[in-house]
Amino acid sequence: MRHLLSIADLSTTEIKEILASAVKMKAELKTGAKENCCSRKTLAMIFEKDSLRTRLSFEIGMTQMGGHAINIGATQIKMRQRESIEDIAQVTSRFADIIMIRTFADKDLQDFAQNSQVPVINGLTDGFHPCQAMADILTAQEHFKSLDNIKIAYIGDGNNVSNSLALICDKLNIPFAIATPKGYELDCKLLQQYGADTSKILQSNDVNQVAECSNILYTDVWTSMGQEAEKEKRLKDFKGYQINLNLIKKAMPNAKVMHCLPAHRGEEISADAMDSDYCIAYDQAENRLHAQKAIVRFLLEQQN
Ligand code: CP
Ligand code: NVA
Repeated sequence: MRHLLSIADLSTTEIKEILASAVKMKAELKTGAKENCCSRKTLAMIFEKDSLRTRLSFEIGMTQMGGHAINIGATQIKMRQRESIEDIAQVTSRFADIIMIRTFADKDLQDFAQNSQVPVINGLTDGFHPCQAMADILTAQEHFKSLDNIKIAYIGDGNNVSNSLALICDKLNIPFAIATPKGYELDCKLLQQYGADTSKILQSNDVNQVAECSNILYTDVWTSMGQEAEKEKRLKDFKGYQINLNLIKKAMPNAKVMHCLPAHRGEEISADAMDSDYCIAYDQAENRLHAQKAIVRFLLEQQN
């Protein structure tokens, strides 16, 4: 049974195949061609955290592929209270052909997947956001024409989004640098457990150092979902770790700015950087649709 719990679940070849399939499906969609690869297939979605992009892109993606998506309200099923994760996975996978789950602990996701009889996709956990990373690389490839031309600097929190970027850059041999405040670094032990060679990553507390050697400046919120109690402390600790026009000038020529969204203008990104021509965050958001359609298709094909 193949799942996508983290980027480590895919080989380099498979990542490239999925990206190529996403490019093809995106082009076909623009021609108005009818897709039917998910005919009679149902995706069940469980969200224990808020979402705009993930919910919309998975649901619309299934419709476009001739299938169907159902959002199982997390408040209705009350995972862990009304019913165990294991039983919810067993039952949901008797009905659905594929499942997407957004939850907190990666252990819960793993327990869910172990009890599922159909593929499970991580739609964001505290540790990882693999669908975002696939869409990000698809977007970077579109803008820089080839994976060989990409050098990514992530500025901000060593979190789920940066973990997945680090893993995918490792798999694809894309230079990856990260600047975080002290105490918010990447968890290298965790990344090593997922197979990454962390010695290749340039880790720094200096935003200028990582910007100078990169043509993509990437950021994400300073306070992730589930960390709301730390918000005030984080606002102070992350001061200076903002992508703004000054920092963009220090990056390599033709640099682009990426953000997984939602964005907080004035915190991790200045309003003028977010709203500038450097920023390709809305392309990233759109590419969630195309990347995830390719992921769903890939996982369903593995079943045959
Ligand atoms: N980037 C992302 O996953 O967005 P949502 O939280 O809105 O789904
Ligand atoms: N790091 C953010 C990403 C949201 C898409 C969070 O976990 O809230």
